[in-house]
Amino acid sequence: MSTIGIFYGTCSGVTGKAAEQLAKLLGEDNCDLYNMEEDFTDFDDMLKYDYLIFGCSTWGSGEVQNDWRDPMLDLENEKPDFTGKTIALFGAGDYKAHGEQFVSALGILYDKFKARGATLVGSIPTEGYTYEYSFAERDGMFVGLPFDKVNEAGKTKTRLANWVEVLKEHFPVEE
Ligand SMILES: Cc1cc2nc3c(=O)[nH]c(=O)nc-3n(C[C@H](O)[C@H](O)[C@H](O)COP(=O)(O)O)c2cc1C
Repeated sequence: MSTIGIFYGTCSGVTGKAAEQLAKLLGEDNCDLYNMEEDFTDFDDMLKYDYLIFGCSTWGSGEVQNDWRDPMLDLENEKPDFTGKTIALFGAGDYKAHGEQFVSALGILYDKFKARGATLVGSIPTEGYTYEYSFAERDGMFVGLPFDKVNEAGKTKTRLANWVEVLKEHFPVEE
């Protein structure tokens, strides 16, 4: 088992591809990848790790990607204890077609896992992003890393690389 668990939900593969790139940047030996659709059974899968990265795109109007929906309900019911766990969030959105709820799913995950005792890290300034509203924006920062393959595909690689430098302050990454 590696030290970091990366759990991602993705409908058209955008957040999934970013998860793979993230694992490469952090070192594949340091990361275990879980697709929420196929690999996630229950919260014990996550609680094996002290360091977690959750990927979730936004669908509906500001809702979590499909494979995160049941786990979010289970989180409320089962109340697993994430005290002592360090969690960072990332996910895809579309600021032109859905700028009224840009990457809002990240805000939902942020609130839910914070309420379960986790320490959330990896927030970044909102500068350089365009949108009307985002539930993932708190005090002028995004609670995790947003990216937009539909309108800004060319920026994702740099955004991921810059974010990984932020994560390295909080995650044990063996070079
Ligand atoms: C029906 C529909 C609803 C969407 N709703 C949102 C939204 O509320 N906010 C947002 O930022 N993006 C929204 N998107 C854009 C997706 O998040 C975007 O296409 C993303 O790249 C999908 O990533 P995935 O393949 O990892 O699931 C929506 C897309 C569709 C087709």
